[in-house]
Amino acid sequence: MDSIMTNRNDFWWLSPLIIVIAGIIAGGYLTWAAFQGEFFEWGPYLSPVYSSPYVPSWWKLSPAFLLLWIPAGFRITCYYGRKTYYRAVFADPLACGVEEPYRKKYKGESKFPFILQNIHRYFLYFALILLVLHWTELILSVFYNGSLYFGMGTLIILLDTLALSFYVFGCHSLRHIVGGKTRCFSCDGCPKKAKISHGIWKKVSLFNTFHNRWFWISLFSVGVADLYIRLLAMGILGSDPHIIL
Ligand code: FES
Repeated sequence: MDSIMTNRNDFWWLSPLIIVIAGIIAGGYLTWAAFQGEFFEWGPYLSPVYSSPYVPSWWKLSPAFLLLWIPAGFRITCYYGRKTYYRAVFADPLACGVEEPYRKKYKGESKFPFILQNIHRYFLYFALILLVLHWTELILSVFYNGSLYFGMGTLIILLDTLALSFYVFGCHSLRHIVGGKTRCFSCDGCPKKAKISHGIWKKVSLFNTFHNRWFWISLFSVGVADLYIRLLAMGILGSDPHIIL
């Protein structure tokens, strides 16, 4: 490939490079963890990679795959997720003011296969259900063996669940839905409804502002939570510092 044409002399290539490296590390670890099919629970804890409360007896694959299609599909079709891999992987475009090395004819997301990205709004509904499951598992881990159990794992899972919540609550599709799917609040024929929608929309917009950060923080926090539980289950970590009430 010829050298890429650009007049930019800053480190424009650094962002795509970091994204590729971060994606390989986080995606690689989570894929590996999902395929293991063991060491995903310890004491009160269940790895967030394996969040299915029910595994049918006929299921022969790793239990992680029962629900993993939800976060995978949600993140792949995420508006910010698309931006990252369109730039860092497809080089379409690589960065502002940088020549696109492979681009022939721009079709955007209006044609197959990228028109399928519109499925994101449906993944959102599943992601919200999954979020409820994560919070339920966290609460259940505290009510352990008839006592209240607070361990290092509780803290790690709590931080992960918060990060996932902030990521999901900042979803552009959620913002659109809670805003009443409108393009203009002041044009709404029902001012009372428009005021409520606008209020919720503004709150979701707070999460949306840092959607990119929560995308990455939550991706890594899931891996950290899984790794902690995995090391406990494998006996590599001798104990989970905790208090019981
Ligand atoms: S736009 Fe990123 S999760 Fe919906």
